[in-house]
Amino acid sequence: MAKLLKALAFAQQLQRETVRAGDLVVDATAGQGFDTEFLARLVGEQGHVYAFDVQELALRRTKERLAAAGLLERVTLCHAGHEDMPAHVVRPVRSVMFNLGYLPGSDHRIITRPDTTVRAVQAAVELVQAGGLITLVIYPGHAGGVQEQAALTTYLSGLPQGQYTVARYEFINQINNPPLVIAIEKNAAERVFV
Ligand SMILES: C[S@@+](CC[C@H](N)C(=O)[O-])C[C@H]1O[C@@H](n2cnc3c(N)ncnc32)[C@H](O)[C@@H]1O
Repeated sequence: MAKLLKALAFAQQLQRETVRAGDLVVDATAGQGFDTEFLARLVGEQGHVYAFDVQELALRRTKERLAAAGLLERVTLCHAGHEDMPAHVVRPVRSVMFNLGYLPGSDHRIITRPDTTVRAVQAAVELVQAGGLITLVIYPGHAGGVQEQAALTTYLSGLPQGQYTVARYEFINQINNPPLVIAIEKNAAERVFV
């Protein structure tokens, strides 16, 4: 088996290592609900997931998936842009998961966009508790994806390194701009660099 995980699997691995039973977490892009279900299982019966999407279709698919899995009670579905996260989530969260781009099998013009994605990540950076994690799966292969990656890189490379550790996981010998991951850890204690 390959040791180097694909982008989404790598993001899930980081989430698995971070999220504990009872945690409060956010799925910033519900889509078809795969990641929402994944997070709902990680937080367990006592935890909770807030899941955002701008498309009713996405929330319907997510709701159906959660209902079939018996996990609906662990999730609040928010028909809103993730940039409005602070209006819906008012307590610190353990993690936030972004899986950017468009909803497969629907209108590919409805995609995550640089300005709203950066605003959502700014909100997530504030909301996440010390020791918590934000993962972003980014798709530079579709229209607008390169610009979204560039806007995120500009914002995230300016985060203070004493408070946040920001890393990128990408494949450098694959064609067609494969997906990549950027992960942000809010350091448990301020780190001093000299
Ligand atoms: C790649 S899909 C997400 C896949 C999903 N995590 C899953 O497991 O199926 C990206 C989703 O982001 C949604 N989206 C686009 N702009 C958004 C925004 N501003 N806030 C929240 N979701 C948005 C799209 O509607 C789409 O459903």
